[in-house]
Amino acid sequence: MSGGKAMALLYMSPHGDGATWRRLLAAEMPALDFRVHPDGGAAGEIEAVLVWQRPPLALEAFPNLKLVQSLGAGIDHLVGPPCRIPAGVALARIVDPAMTAQMAEWCLMAMLNHLRRWRDYRCLHRRRQWRTLPVPLPGETAIAVLGLGEMGGHLARLLVAMGYRVRGWSRSARSIPGAACFHGRQRLHEALQGCDAVVCLLPLTPQTAGVLDARAFARLKPGSLVVNAARGAHVVEEDLVAALDAGQLGAAVLDVQQEEPMGPRHPFWFHPKIATFPHVAALTVPATAAPQIAENYRRVRAGLAPLNMVDLARGY
Ligand code: NAP
Ligand code: GLV
Repeated sequence: MSGGKAMALLYMSPHGDGATWRRLLAAEMPALDFRVHPDGGAAGEIEAVLVWQRPPLALEAFPNLKLVQSLGAGIDHLVGPPCRIPAGVALARIVDPAMTAQMAEWCLMAMLNHLRRWRDYRCLHRRRQWRTLPVPLPGETAIAVLGLGEMGGHLARLLVAMGYRVRGWSRSARSIPGAACFHGRQRLHEALQGCDAVVCLLPLTPQTAGVLDARAFARLKPGSLVVNAARGAHVVEEDLVAALDAGQLGAAVLDVQQEEPMGPRHPFWFHPKIATFPHVAALTVPATAAPQIAENYRRVRAGLAPLNMVDLARGY
């Protein structure tokens, strides 16, 4: 209750009725008033909203809103027009080791398949041919990791431990033992120079949209691999197809695309060097994410900043 009024948390996601979240959050906060859009009741009673994709209502509709809690790690769809976080309302995202681990696993799968020539060996198998194909040693393989935050930082550390030559890129200066770290737009191409693979784990902001374009691909080693597990708009799609067709790129593994799901005639469906996935690299795990959401609701009600709060000026 706030000033004697019932106050509530509203679930506004296109994914089901929120039953799992209701159960998990009730275990954390037994007195929680959990409502589901469109049955949210009086707008003035909503103090927090749980959202995944762009919310179906303008957030200004809730005069007592304190918290917008993203159900994912990325929040680009919540801070770009037409969606706006009202002044004085906190936006929090999920940071969860269970998601970070999934992301590293997916990126390693994409890279190792390419580096250890999974597809080529499967072709040999179908032809019943027993042959050895050359593969580079980890110490001879340079991998660029774009974004050295929760996910990119973890992946970069794993790759260093596996013996790869890691080149990381971030907005501000970062240090990862064993990796060469670069920061700032002007050093992006230096980070990519001569790499065998690049993995994109950047947030989507006006500064990072289109970073993987023809000029970036030209910096990589001929026949290299592009892995995108961040957002589709990081890749200039026509430049990617042109670089694959020209042989500058050997393959692309894309968990995300500009249009999701891709239309039936999207060229990515048909390109022999492109593997797409339906945005599954790191899924939110309700059981491990619920405690931080409950904690955030408690914190904003107590006048505190939530955990994993997004810096709206920075855009991530
Ligand atoms: P994070 O912790 O915020 O890390 C972001 C990293 O990107 C930081 O290192 C940051 O630099 C860097 N960065 C931001 N703007 C930059 C710029 N202009 N130039 C260079 N570097 C820049 O984010 P995260 O939790 O690792 O997540 C990254 C993204 O992964 C999310 O935003 C989301 O879009 C995506 N994601 C995808 C899936 C999936 O299933 N496909 C799942 C979860 C997340 P600083 O270190 O200097 O801040
Ligand atoms: C998924 O893409 C996320 O941002 O959590």
